[in-house]
Amino acid sequence: MAVGVFDSGLGGLTVLSALERRLPEVAFVYYGDNLHAPYGVRDADAVYDLTCRGVERLWAAGCDLVILACNTASAAALRRMQESWVPRDKRVLGVFVPLIEALTERQWGDNSPPREVAVKHVALFATPATVASRAFQRELAFRAIGVDVEAQACGGVVDAIEEGDMILAEALVRSHVDALKRKMPQPEAAVLGCTHYPLMEEIFQDALGEGVQVYSQASIVAESLADYLGRRPEMRGAGEAGAFLTTGDTRRVSSRATQFLRREIRFDAA
Ligand code: DGL
Repeated sequence: MAVGVFDSGLGGLTVLSALERRLPEVAFVYYGDNLHAPYGVRDADAVYDLTCRGVERLWAAGCDLVILACNTASAAALRRMQESWVPRDKRVLGVFVPLIEALTERQWGDNSPPREVAVKHVALFATPATVASRAFQRELAFRAIGVDVEAQACGGVVDAIEEGDMILAEALVRSHVDALKRKMPQPEAAVLGCTHYPLMEEIFQDALGEGVQVYSQASIVAESLADYLGRRPEMRGAGEAGAFLTTGDTRRVSSRATQFLRREIRFDAA
């Protein structure tokens, strides 16, 4: 009964901790491709190849279902993987659609035509690759009409977090929020479209101001996975033990992860 959680690095840990809280009976195997992070500055083919490699490793660990806890991989690779690569008995799910369903107040699998929703001005903060893919706007357009999205590519933030330089990460977040506000002075909602960003959520909220509702994916994705496993219990894989795997330096990655999750985490080599 193991489910795989994939990210380019440490950001997916924000999703993992929400998954563990919501589904304590499920074992999770986490894979961080720290050696190749950040993905946000790579082209779509490179993101696709690296993501497929990580997902295969998680299948080998007994996880038939893998959550891409990475917006960049969800935006740049998931559709191609689902259309031509994922075998019938396996599933790979992304983090984009649950977020957009929450934003547009839709139930899972509601495929009715797009309609007007309460929120009209949305700020999207994401990596350069996610912004360039326009996947967020595409998925939103399937579900909602009349929503104005202003996207801000937040260069440098993932690198700073991976390096553990939270002072630099904070300065970058504040300057990206300023840049966004010059284009859209009064967003009603802000989407943190990168799983590293919840680690900076308070800074985003502070820089945006109290009136802006910040959507962060971790709890939304956890709710959506609980719902999915309720409908598809056979997708709980054969693996029984949780684990943390990385392509990077195991000691460095373990120490950063321990700092972020505030509990002892030990990564093994993927
Ligand atoms: N956490 C990944 C995401 O959600 C970061 C991508 C990167 O490595 O740049 O997009």
